[in-house]
Amino acid sequence: MIIKKPSDITASVLKELEGAQDARFKEILHSAVKHLHAFVSETKLTEPEYQKICGIIARMGQMTNEHHNEVVLAGGSLGISALVCLLNNGVSAKEIDNNPGATEVDDELITTANMLGPFWRDDSPLSQNGDNLARGTTKGDPIFVKAWVKDGSGAAVPDATVDVWHTSAEGFYENQDPSQVDMNLRGRFKTNAQGLIEFRSVKPAGYPIPVNGPVGDLLKMQGRHNMRPAHIHFLIHKEGYKTQFSQVYSNDDPYINSDVQFGVTQSLLANYVKHHANAPDPDVTGAWYSLEHTFIVSQGQSGYPRAPIKGKNTGALPEQVILERKIKP
Ligand SMILES: [Fe+2]
Repeated sequence: MIIKKPSDITASVLKELEGAQDARFKEILHSAVKHLHAFVSETKLTEPEYQKICGIIARMGQMTNEHHNEVVLAGGSLGISALVCLLNNGVSAKEIDNNPGATEVDDELITTANMLGPFWRDDSPLSQNGDNLARGTTKGDPIFVKAWVKDGSGAAVPDATVDVWHTSAEGFYENQDPSQVDMNLRGRFKTNAQGLIEFRSVKPAGYPIPVNGPVGDLLKMQGRHNMRPAHIHFLIHKEGYKTQFSQVYSNDDPYINSDVQFGVTQSLLANYVKHHANAPDPDVTGAWYSLEHTFIVSQGQSGYPRAPIKGKNTGALPEQVILERKIKP
């Protein structure tokens, strides 16, 4: 088509898509082209602005390596990861369209699924119930966690594989922090006959997401902070069940209402209970925490995602930069 006006470009691109063989691919790209062209027209994007956007996207790719994924971080910071999660786990697109203010609790569509995040490694060591994930010398308040995996009817799901990972008390995942031993604060458990896994670790801290790249630039321009409230990640896998990613958040965290990744849902707010005596392990003499949580998995297709990272940072400890939020709660 010889282009006579701007809308001819959109029509031309969509016409070229007619040759696509994969129906779902065709549907997704058709919608993406329509919305991207509408976005450019609506904002009357200038040439320097377009060049800047291309530069941002290119830099996200250039910054992504074996121990850092800037693209996943960007998706989270724009709420894309959280939206994809809820749309695929209990809240349909129709329900959101018809009732934009609805939450999964208002609709009684509770899901314990959450975002995978950029820090899962797919080669965590096998652990036994009762193991301590604090490997080597890891400082922090001891925490004793019990997590149950159940199906929609409330029945225990035994023999499910549950990966667990979280930050140190300083707010670093082991892959970011060269001073932590490999696979510190990570483990892979099997649920027992009651669908239970249990382990000891140290209470994780909330953490700032890195702001030394384009994601940081975008947060600063919006006047946003870059904090995630403290949480523990879980990945639950069993044949016949939809693989579930989850994060269980500490409800006493100061950033619980303004997670930079928009991940906190009502059903994943948990009470990290503080105790002062009678810890399950006799070597714990000071304060300690307990956490109990139940995950509900649904029948469906199981499978592991591609791990966002593979390795460990061997360079310097990243600087923790905390941005101030301009909007006050
Ligand atoms: Fe995390």
